[in-house]
Amino acid sequence: MKALEFIGINQPLVYKELDKPIVNDDQVLVKNTFAALNRRDYWITKGLYPGVIYPTVLGSCGCGQFNDTSYIYNPNIHWGSNPTVPSKDYIILGLEEKGTMAEYTAVRKSSLFVKPKHLSDEQGAALPLAGLTAYRAIISNCKLKPNEKVLITGIGGGVALMAMQFALALGAEVYVTSSCSEKIEKAIQLGATLGVNYKDKDWDKQLKKEGIRFDVIIDSAGGEGFAKLVGLANRGGRIGLYGGTAGNWNDVSPQLVFFKQLHIFGSTMGNDSEFESMVKMVTTHKINPIVDRTFPLSKGNEAITYMKQSHQFGKIILDIEK
Ligand SMILES: NC(=O)c1ccc[n+]([C@@H]2O[C@H](COP(=O)([O-])OP(=O)(O)OC[C@H]3O[C@@H](n4cnc5c(N)ncnc54)[C@H](OP(=O)(O)O)[C@@H]3O)[C@@H](O)[C@H]2O)c1
Repeated sequence: MKALEFIGINQPLVYKELDKPIVNDDQVLVKNTFAALNRRDYWITKGLYPGVIYPTVLGSCGCGQFNDTSYIYNPNIHWGSNPTVPSKDYIILGLEEKGTMAEYTAVRKSSLFVKPKHLSDEQGAALPLAGLTAYRAIISNCKLKPNEKVLITGIGGGVALMAMQFALALGAEVYVTSSCSEKIEKAIQLGATLGVNYKDKDWDKQLKKEGIRFDVIIDSAGGEGFAKLVGLANRGGRIGLYGGTAGNWNDVSPQLVFFKQLHIFGSTMGNDSEFESMVKMVTTHKINPIVDRTFPLSKGNEAITYMKQSHQFGKIILDIEK
């Protein structure tokens, strides 16, 4: 089968012929149509992810065919019995177990979910990891309610956009930040109320000037901007954090955190039942994950470079059949 093989840290992925995966009794061999990139794939290629091994096939998200039915796959493997935290054996599809950047993937039968009918295969591939992460952060942890004000940072990101779509489906009022005014404009077209550019030094003051305080804030950047998020949170506000793209927090005021009775929820992925609930929510509200651009599988390295440069508004997809 055609596949993109990860052969070592800081080395390009190699487009080549590999043997089809061998399936065990719990698995089926799914023929992928599309795979989606996640920032995790980029971190792995740079050796910036725990437990990097190679050679292997990356890709945690995919859509494909088995027995004439289109499926998407829950990327969780061995979450375990505690709904709050994964077991010690927890892994994500696409590292220790070969992933979706290939014609075929061995997927556990329990991980197969029939693709919601309103989604194309590309949109189906875009959903799993981003949808699950956004669902836990904004729905399970922050418990966003209708009419609440929510700020979502870095709206060009795949998870951030899914969080925005969940928030809009719930009837919340969505505000965004981005490094790019066109992305803010696109978010407003999708239903956001207002956005500011986080490259502006005073971006938080621009929001404060409008008199806005946020009941919920969803962030994957951390870094210097996090102290500003604490300042923008409403009393009793909930902050959902699932990434640290911009590095460590600086100058976060403990007084603001405790005087305002803030809740800060860190999360990674989500449990299997949250995956099921997320797919139900996407189906009920006919949510279409935003696909930014599709590259042929053979151009996987170009796709990763494009992700590194953060040009995207939504998910970057690989077309397996090209
Ligand atoms: N914990 C988990 O389970 C989990 C799951 C998925 C992702 N993550 C992490 O979450 C982060 C985003 O992942 P993703 O897959 O959504 O990545 P992505 O699609 O590549 O999006 C990255 C986005 O981050 C935004 N960004 C970059 N620097 C920023 C800053 N200083 N302040 C605010 N936003 C900034 C940019 O938004 P603009 O383009 O709008 O400027 C960029 O488009 C990554 O660090 C990833 O490792 C964690």
